[in-house]
Amino acid sequence: MENIYPIFDQVLERASKEALLKQKGIVLWFVGLSGSGKSTVAKALEHDLHQSGKITMLLDGDNLRTGINNNLGFSEADRKENIRRAAEVAKLFANNGIITICSLISPTEEIRSMAKEIVGKDYFEVFINCPLEICEQRDVKGLYQKARRGEIKNFTGIDSPFEYPTHPSIEVHTDLASLEECKNDILRAVTPLITH
Ligand code: ADX
Repeated sequence: MENIYPIFDQVLERASKEALLKQKGIVLWFVGLSGSGKSTVAKALEHDLHQSGKITMLLDGDNLRTGINNNLGFSEADRKENIRRAAEVAKLFANNGIITICSLISPTEEIRSMAKEIVGKDYFEVFINCPLEICEQRDVKGLYQKARRGEIKNFTGIDSPFEYPTHPSIEVHTDLASLEECKNDILRAVTPLITH
């Protein structure tokens, strides 16, 4: 790239910030269908981390799409750009020692590989597993019904693909376990990684 002069090497070191915060930066990348419980588990996890004195940042697909990603839709290309931006932002936070929770459907292997590549060694994939039938039964936002009626096109799991993650760092089943259990499983796996 021409005429660009990054100052990465002059930025205060990550290690100094992690020492100050008494925690280590990480990106917890939540993957799952709409209505699987990503945001619910993410919020519960963030709450617990906060209670134990940790600094967190929650990047939620629905929220990002009202701001930085408000020019993007749900075509394959737009979803890819959505994830690319979220991953780049998450990387900036993690590099400053922040425990960053990303909650986006991230429907394909290709998209998740890209997120993983952008984030690098801090990438920790959390699969919020819940069968489509259950997500559709819950239909918290009423979107599945709209998708079935054809009022929303390219809806994930209906007429747009969701490829099940093959190698998540951890997987929880929100249809089988309670919110508390799901959150605690993740907390247990993550604690050694964020402890300074
Ligand atoms: S992603 O596929 O690009 O990762 P993202 O997590 O940002 O998706 O946004 C998904 C949210 O957008 C859903 O939870 C739902 O509320 C809303 N949404 C609206 N239209 C669609 C659609 N066609 N497919 C999936 N989600 C949609």
